Order: sequence, then C-alpha cells, then structure tokens
Amino acid sequence: MTNTYSEEIKLIAKPGEIPYAKGLEGIPIGESTKSFVDGLGGRLVYHGHSIEELCEKSSYEEVFYLLLYDRLPKESELKDLGRLMRSYREIPSELYDLIAKQAPRYGVHPMSVMRTAVSALAAYDETTEDDTPSEQCRQSIRIVSKIATIAAAIARARLGKPMLSPRAELSHAGNFYYMLTGSAPDDFYAELMDVLLILHADHECNASTFAAVTVRSTLSDLYSAVVAGICALKGPLHGGANEEVMRMLQAIGSLDNVERFLEDAMSQKLRIHGFGHRVYKIMDPRADILRRQAREVTRRAGTEHWLETAERIEKVMAEKYGQRGIWPNVDFFSGVVMASMGIESPMFTPIFAVGRSAGWTAHALEQWVDNRIFRPRFIYIGPEEEPYTPIRERK
Ligand code: ACO
Repeated sequence: MTNTYSEEIKLIAKPGEIPYAKGLEGIPIGESTKSFVDGLGGRLVYHGHSIEELCEKSSYEEVFYLLLYDRLPKESELKDLGRLMRSYREIPSELYDLIAKQAPRYGVHPMSVMRTAVSALAAYDETTEDDTPSEQCRQSIRIVSKIATIAAAIARARLGKPMLSPRAELSHAGNFYYMLTGSAPDDFYAELMDVLLILHADHECNASTFAAVTVRSTLSDLYSAVVAGICALKGPLHGGANEEVMRMLQAIGSLDNVERFLEDAMSQKLRIHGFGHRVYKIMDPRADILRRQAREVTRRAGTEHWLETAERIEKVMAEKYGQRGIWPNVDFFSGVVMASMGIESPMFTPIFAVGRSAGWTAHALEQWVDNRIFRPRFIYIGPEEEPYTPIRERK
C-alpha cells in the first residue's frame, strides 16, 4: 500500500503483510517478582515457592502476604494481616441490598453482579483515590477480604437464602466456606477451600491480570483495576471455562458417551473446555493438585461419577490430542471439586475471582511502582484515504 503517512510507514499495511503476535503470545510486558509459569515443565511458583508446597503447608492469608510483600510473613506479621483481613470482611448494607436485588434476576450471571458490587464498593472507601503505597496495600487487603463476602452473598441471594455476616473466629477460607454454605467447615473442607483459593491466587500475566494492570497503568484506582480483572475472568476462554466443564460433564451423562462426544466436538472444531493453555503445553500443575483433591471430596459427596467421567475425558484427550499440547488446565477439575462441595456451577468463576483478587492487586501495585501506561499499536489495514460521501448519496 502506498501511503501518505510517513511516520506510520511500518504500521500501515495490507492484511497479513506485517507479522505480529496475535493475542500478544510470548510477548513480555514487564518485569515481575510475583509468579512464574513453566509451561513446558508444568510448574507454577509464587515468588519461588512451588504451588504444591504452598497448597500443602500454607494458607491463603500467607500466600496473599507473599504475593503482596514478596516474602513469607513472620508469625506476628501473619497474625496482623489476619486481624486486618477479619476487620475488613463486612460490606456496607447497601451492597447486600444491591446483591439481593440483582443476583436472583433471571439470566444475570453472578460475575456481572460481582463486577457491579466491587465497583460500588469503591464508593464506600474514602481512600479510593489515595495513591500512597501504604493506602494501596490497605485497599488491596480490603478488596481481597470483602470480595469473599460479596461472592458468598451473591451465592446465597441466587438461591433465595439469607445472606450471612462474616464470622471473625474463622480463617479467610473457613469463613468464606461458612458464608457460602451456612455451616462452618470441618478441617477437610476448610483445607480444601484454602487449597482452591491458593491455587487461584495468581498466575503471572494471564488475561485478567493483564486487564487489571492495564487499567492501573492509566493511574486509575485499584478498584477499577479489579473490576477490569473480573470482567476479563468472566469469559469462557478464561475463568468461565470451569462452569462450561460442568455443563460438558452433564451433557456427556455417562462414561460410554465420552469418546463419541469428544470426537463430535473435535470434528466440529469446538473447544473442549478445561483443556489447552497459552503457556502450559503439558498438564497444568494446578489441575493435578485438584484431581487429587477431587478423589476425596467426590467420595464424601457420592459424586465419584463426575470424576470418573472427567478422568475418562482426560485419558481420551491425552491419547488423541496430548501430542498437540492440549492438556487439562486448572478449570478442568475445579468444577468437579466445587460441585462436590455443593456449590452451584455459576458460582465457580466468582470463587476463582475471590482467590485471584490477591494476584490482581499485587500485580497492579507492583507495576505501578515504575508505571508506564500500556499503549501498544494496531497495524492499520484500512483504506488510506476515502472521500466523504453525503449521507443521501451513499449506496
Ligand atoms: N479444545 C480443542 N482444541 C483446542 C483447545 C481445546 N480446549 N485448546 C486449543 N485447541 C487447539 C486449537 O483449536 C488450535 O488448533 P489449530 O492450530 O488446529 O487451529 C490449537 O489448539 C491452538 O489453540 P489456540 O486457540 O491458538 O491457543 P491459545 O493459546 O490462543 O488459547 C485457550 C488458549 C484459550 C486456553 C484455549 O486452549 C482454549 O480455548 N481452551 C478452552 C477454554 C479453557 O479451558 N480456558 C481456560 C484456560 S485456563 C484459565 O484461563 C484459567
């Protein structure tokens, strides 16, 4: 294409003329100390700590501290963070009213209600526009604490159950479980909820974290960044896949149907939800951990058939498509785990968001320190110059 835009010569082209990384595949957008995904080795670390070790030995509060401050806390520091988180758990009564009105409406996804509620939350924090690092840290702790109350209130309101106030004597995960289900968890369910939240806490530069840091890079506030994260996470190619997996398991129905279902889907070039990943080309380590958790929780709940079907899908997919690098991701087994905990599938992604709020805020704060606004380019493939035709003469 000849052009008259001399400065833009490299960015005006015919379609396909200039190579670019669609979906920003493989493009580093900054430096971070928070987490690392080893896509070929199937490893995930939060600031150098393996996800397996954190799930076994740590708690969500400790992982949140690690992501926020880049080190494991001392005992007193963990206690202080726990105290602060507990003190921030409650949400304004107007928010309960908003959730009560919106969540049960037909066709409204809980992620849409969560997006609105977190956005509204900003109006109740008088420090929202305060950019000092200490206030931003406190905002992060408020958001992470309150988003669990928001998610639980949405879950209860959807089912027409009374929304529950947080209980201060429980851990973050234990209290979240209580607010969701109405009963305080035993050790098994408290640990399981902790593992779910730890596994979802961060994942490097995924789409929702990228959305959050992009918004924060304009120097917009942290609440706006988290709302952006929620919006991006909602999609079925990202966090929304866990809900789709459960839909798929229900559609398959019985073990005998697995092979035919997958063949039909793949021949129509449909996506098998819970499989594939931009970075992992082998099994996502989070899926492996969740599969192990699924064994016990499905046994307790009598939902072994979901795990059996999921594992059959995994086997067939590995045989047929493993070589192409399409393996289970975090969303594949998380649905089976959460459904077996008695959680309805539309709430899976909001629970993911409760965990990921730590990563969104930690990354947004980290990138802000030496901030530069995100402003990439499009290659212009439109017409170079078009005459303006008066409206009545247009064909
Ligand atoms: N089912 C079937 N085929 C798949 C799948 C899948 N789940 N994932 C990838 N492929 C195939 C594609 O069809 C494509 O094949 P082609 O080269 O013959 O066209 C190839 O693998 C590469 O796929 P891309 O879409 O280019 O991979 P990308 O990195 O852009 O997408 C994504 C990654 C979105 C996760 C994709 O694997 C997918 O759609 N998975 C299903 C949705 C899902 O589970 N999302 C959750 C991801 S984890 C998370 O966000 C928390």
